[in-house]
Amino acid sequence: MPETLRQILASAEPRPAITVRGWVRTKRESKSCAFLEVTDGSCFRVLQIVVDAALPSADVLPSILTGASVEVLGDLIASPAAGQKWELQATELRLLGEADATYPLQKKGHTPEFLRTIAHLRPRTNLYGNVFRVRSRMAFAMHRFFQERGFFYVHTPIITSSDCEGAGELFRVTTLKQGTPAKPEDDFFGRPTYLTVSGQLQGETFACALGNIYTFGPTFRAENSNTARHAAEFWMIEPEMAFYDLFADMTLAEENVKYLVDAMLTECPEELEFFSKFVDKDLVARLQQTLDKPFERISYTEAVELLLQSGRRFEHPVVWGEALQTEHERYLAEQHVRGPVTIYNYPKAIKPFYMRQNDDGKTAAAMDLLVPGIGEIIGGSQREERLDVLTAAMQHHGLSQEDYSWYVDLRRYGSVPHAGYGMGFERLLMFVTGVSNIRDVIPFARTPGHAPY
Ligand code: 4AD
Ligand code: MG
Repeated sequence: MPETLRQILASAEPRPAITVRGWVRTKRESKSCAFLEVTDGSCFRVLQIVVDAALPSADVLPSILTGASVEVLGDLIASPAAGQKWELQATELRLLGEADATYPLQKKGHTPEFLRTIAHLRPRTNLYGNVFRVRSRMAFAMHRFFQERGFFYVHTPIITSSDCEGAGELFRVTTLKQGTPAKPEDDFFGRPTYLTVSGQLQGETFACALGNIYTFGPTFRAENSNTARHAAEFWMIEPEMAFYDLFADMTLAEENVKYLVDAMLTECPEELEFFSKFVDKDLVARLQQTLDKPFERISYTEAVELLLQSGRRFEHPVVWGEALQTEHERYLAEQHVRGPVTIYNYPKAIKPFYMRQNDDGKTAAAMDLLVPGIGEIIGGSQREERLDVLTAAMQHHGLSQEDYSWYVDLRRYGSVPHAGYGMGFERLLMFVTGVSNIRDVIPFARTPGHAPY
């Protein structure tokens, strides 16, 4: 198997006759030799390759431009240059694939906006290479967090006939031809189906069988919000736990975020250094602070009071009973708490049917975890486990008892208190990298009016 640059750069001793494969970042030439900076994406670092002009294979040098792929045989020796331990003294240079002067990544310093238009090439840049290496490690750390705690990974359906959040933000899935009259029964599944907005309802069926479970998969929302934090296709992690109440749910969410922050600090040092230098100079301090103390918890009612007393003029007025807007959430996390904060017990009227009603008759056992710079990264709740209360809520929300009878069955047969939450994976990535636009932490972003590739 070909060795990666990451493995090669970890060498303890000089090594003769090794092979390096990768893409050329830069080429500098003098009379007697050429210097190629080569990377293969396995790590942030590059390897400098020294090619003696007298080498027989040096005649391919004129065809090796930025972006070309090469295979180089040579000796790994201690580098006299500053900032790098090793360099490769080439003995044979092979051009694998040319890149001509139209290659868009000739120089550094392109804007994220431009790089979004070449999403197929941007992983080759420093910023996106670092983002996507971190994305992979965070995904693995996410699984580790749950697996270490005995949670089971459940694959909930992508195509579904239920609308979990009830917000009408569903993408329809159909094989019916446009413009031809047809009944829902004629469709592929014999009924209307959609891309899932959440795996929660199906996740609950497994929590009521296996105890503690989680999902981690793509999620779709046809909400027309063109913001830096919304994507039409994003990845969500949804744990669901039998016998948890709202407070146990909040505690797990806090541990979950802290575990991922710790993984970022300890498992991604090279990328962290890059983000701190070029993306957000306060990143390390903010991540460290996240670990240092317990997350604050404020009830929705207290939060409304705090906002009203803040003396701030908000674009959206603060009214008990209305949803908190991003500007409110960010005030709470950034100005009031200056750190992550969990808001809980929201008015039941603005929350989905499945949330457990509190005894006050006005609020539901819901919670949102807000972080500085982003706002909501987690939304969750204790679920309504009482059959009569649930069916009344479904009626109130206009949900068909027949379509959701399987969900109601969980309350008919051995109902238990249970709770869960959903974490937006991209929002978490924005938090741990400091990257401020969701389009820059997902490989191929889907937003209103935009779905190339
Ligand atoms: O708050 P939401 O809508 O909660 C649910 O879907 C529940 N069913 C979760 C559960 O209890 N199992 O979404 C959860 C999280 C949000 O906090 C946010 O981080 C992320 O998903 N999210 C989005 N991320 C990117 N783009 C969007 N359009 C998002 N909508 C939600
Ligand atoms: Mg939410």
